[in-house]
Amino acid sequence: MTTISATASGTFAIGGDLTVTRLGYGAMRITGDGVWGPPKDPDEARRVLRRLPELGIDFIDTADSYGPFVSEDLIAEVLHPYDGMTVATKGGLTRSGPGEWPILGRPEYLRQCCLMSLRRLGVETIDLYQLHRIDPKVDRDEQFAELARLQQEGKVRHLGLSQVSVEEIEAAGKHFEVATVQNLYNLTDRSSEDVLAHCEQHGIGFIPWFPLAAGELAKPGHAAAEIAEAHDATPGQVALAWLLAKSPVMLPIPGTGSVAHLEENVAAADLRLSDEELRRLDEASG
Ligand SMILES: NC(=O)c1ccc[n+]([C@@H]2O[C@H](COP(=O)([O-])OP(=O)(O)OC[C@H]3O[C@@H](n4cnc5c(N)ncnc54)[C@H](OP(=O)(O)O)[C@@H]3O)[C@@H](O)[C@H]2O)c1
Repeated sequence: MTTISATASGTFAIGGDLTVTRLGYGAMRITGDGVWGPPKDPDEARRVLRRLPELGIDFIDTADSYGPFVSEDLIAEVLHPYDGMTVATKGGLTRSGPGEWPILGRPEYLRQCCLMSLRRLGVETIDLYQLHRIDPKVDRDEQFAELARLQQEGKVRHLGLSQVSVEEIEAAGKHFEVATVQNLYNLTDRSSEDVLAHCEQHGIGFIPWFPLAAGELAKPGHAAAEIAEAHDATPGQVALAWLLAKSPVMLPIPGTGSVAHLEENVAAADLRLSDEELRRLDEASG
């Protein structure tokens, strides 16, 4: 019997010193509909979290706004004191209902977000703290400066950004070393290709969110579906294998609330695509 393990995806050192296995886990889906409230099956969500270390996953992405608080609380309940796992979280969004995510980047709010995540996760330092969105209504330098202060105070180890341009990464870089960038990126949406290239050039971890582009890829006729068939794999697994092959700074975090889906996603770490298949996928549009 073959053992499924994320370790086949290799490692990446976040900020040059925090080594994680490249294939991680996104913990947004262990919440209710609209990423609001508790998950429909809390015990299955706990089983998913318990299965992560068994599957060699040591990098979890979450946010205070997932639930809100539900995802961080479940992670702490099941995995604290984490035993070598890196838990990355985010702040800077408020929640006003299912599917609603108002941005709030006032420095005092970012500080509260960080302090409350520290409490919920039960740690003294957050391994990787990401600004969920730059608030266009607040001077961005004030937002970056507050994050830098939290880092100087030892409350966070590394800092990252989410849904940003190259210009914004450079602007933040005047305040702190940008360790990671988390942007929408998958087989069907390559709009952040320039950001990925910048990250690769500067050793910044690139965390593609919505990596599976659920639904789109499974459409008959999409290259991913055809290549999946040839490997006796699923289109989602092909999408993950393509991401992992795309760049050494790529850190995919597929999200699921199901153990069966988690195992299927982790198995993609072992899926090796030929140069020809990778080229076909590169050329395939959404
Ligand atoms: N920075 C940001 O602004 C931002 C935005 C969105 C997400 N994120 C992060 O990125 C992570 C991943 O994004 P995502 O969850 O939106 O997208 P995703 O990982 O591409 O897809 C997740 C969806 O696909 C389903 N799924 C997962 N594995 C599957 C499988 N093997 N077979 C069939 N369906 C499967 C999940 O449902 P089941 O639960 O039923 O498996 C869920 O509906 C999130 O967890 C979160 O940490 C960040």
